[in-house]
Amino acid sequence: MDVLEAMYTLRAIRRFKPDPVPDELVWKVLEAATKAPSGGNRQPWRFLVVRDPETKRRIGEFYLEGWERFYGGAAREQMLQDPARARIYRSADHLARHLAEVPVLIIACLRTTPWPVTTSERGSYIFPAVQNLLLAARALGLGTVLTTLHRVREKEVRELLGVPDDWETMALVPLGWPAVPFGPVRRLPVEEVVYWERWGETRSR
Ligand SMILES: Cc1cc2nc3c(=O)[nH]c(=O)nc-3n(C[C@H](O)[C@H](O)[C@H](O)COP(=O)(O)O)c2cc1C
Repeated sequence: MDVLEAMYTLRAIRRFKPDPVPDELVWKVLEAATKAPSGGNRQPWRFLVVRDPETKRRIGEFYLEGWERFYGGAAREQMLQDPARARIYRSADHLARHLAEVPVLIIACLRTTPWPVTTSERGSYIFPAVQNLLLAARALGLGTVLTTLHRVREKEVRELLGVPDDWETMALVPLGWPAVPFGPVRRLPVEEVVYWERWGETRSR
């Protein structure tokens, strides 16, 4: 698949078929992740592949706790009032309640020492690799979504998976065969978000 087509149709997939994902495809998406750039080419990443049902169940509990904390209560009511956000809400709610059923969970970990990676910089060291993973999965017909809500229980997730203290779990990517169609993605028009020469100077194409 053309890389542009993969980008334009890379929707967040949060509903998956139960069918297993062969090891060969898991290797492929992770190999694509490892081709990403990183500062000084340090490649400060490790990727945990989780298929064990009990481990997924525990991670699913942590994730649901994060979901309820940030999107339960008043936030839920607010989101459900706006039809566009309600669609995202329902799909994210479904994932939060069924995470353990997704065939594969990939956890992208970042090494936080010995380099002075500040908290605000951290994402930049790992998200290019995560985006490569998402694009490779899309090209292979596999669904993914970048998630972070498990991090409300970062310490417990690290303990569960044996992640050392100088590593941080930056993203959790569910991977499986999509039960809903891919893209096109809905984004602001490029003309609206690109300025030419000076801030605010838009152009039509
Ligand atoms: C840094 C980051 C964190 C995200 N965390 C979550 C998450 O915890 N749970 C979730 O369901 N989606 C999460 N998302 C996915 C976004 O909600 C999704 O990319 C966005 O709504 C666009 O969706 P679309 O590609 O289907 O249009 C995250 C995305 C990013 C970039």
